[in-house]
Amino acid sequence: MYLFKSVHQLDQYLQHFRASNARVGFIPTMGALHAGHLSLVEASNEQNELTVCSIFVNPTQFNEGSDLEKYPRTPGLDLALLAAANCDVVFMPQVDEVYPPGVELDSPTPPKALVQGMEGQFRPGHFEGVVQVVKRLLDLVQPSSLYMGQKDYQQAAIIGWMIEYTKLAVELVVCPIMREENGLAMSSRNVRLHPDIRPKAIVLYQTLLSVKEKLGTLSLPELQSWALEQLSGPDFRPEYFDIVDGQSLQPLDNVGENDFAVACTAVWAGEVRILDNMILQKPE
Ligand code: PAF
Repeated sequence: MYLFKSVHQLDQYLQHFRASNARVGFIPTMGALHAGHLSLVEASNEQNELTVCSIFVNPTQFNEGSDLEKYPRTPGLDLALLAAANCDVVFMPQVDEVYPPGVELDSPTPPKALVQGMEGQFRPGHFEGVVQVVKRLLDLVQPSSLYMGQKDYQQAAIIGWMIEYTKLAVELVVCPIMREENGLAMSSRNVRLHPDIRPKAIVLYQTLLSVKEKLGTLSLPELQSWALEQLSGPDFRPEYFDIVDGQSLQPLDNVGENDFAVACTAVWAGEVRILDNMILQKPE
């Protein structure tokens, strides 16, 4: 496995693969890797000749300095995990490499309709930062396929929009959520969960499963209030539980048989904010 820290080194290495039109899979990450990230590496290895993974804690997507500071960083372990997962190239740049001082980078502004709900409500500017960094990394790596996890559903949908809007020649592959044995969605933030709270955080998955079961027996506002009640407790405070169209991310009023419905939630579990979602219905 090669580790590159500069754009120049990365570019030199990739030139050879570009010249031979090799399929390159790319996984952008902020490190603190877990089995969810490794499942993306596995998917890329199956579908490409070369797998490139980036580790970069992107400052422009954090709306609170304290969240950026507290973001877990485990570079030594990340590299060991990537090597064991047969990743070919790791790109681990400093901020100046990604955002060279004095250079204006072009990145599209996502439409309000996609960014204003759910995560966007609570993290102003977050998705603009995500689009900026993913566009920059895609320009640097120029992969055939980009691998992202369904766990950040809104993020994946917005990146899908960005690829279509900019007409980038890259295929977006969204891989299923990886869960811990008890159903908790894997996330880099889980290590910060208090040990007493972590086992109880399965309430998110349980609630999503029950909502899927109850679909059609209650109206959507009723389902939503029921879910918010399940997710509230001494250690848990939900920020939202929304049922949205899987592509436009607009809230649905009801779910007809041809609707693509996804339930998304964000919950404070003690001091840590965790996300989860579930596709309730996807028409063929
Ligand atoms: O999901 C993440 O880890 C980040 O938002 C991403 C896509 C790597 C961009 O910094």
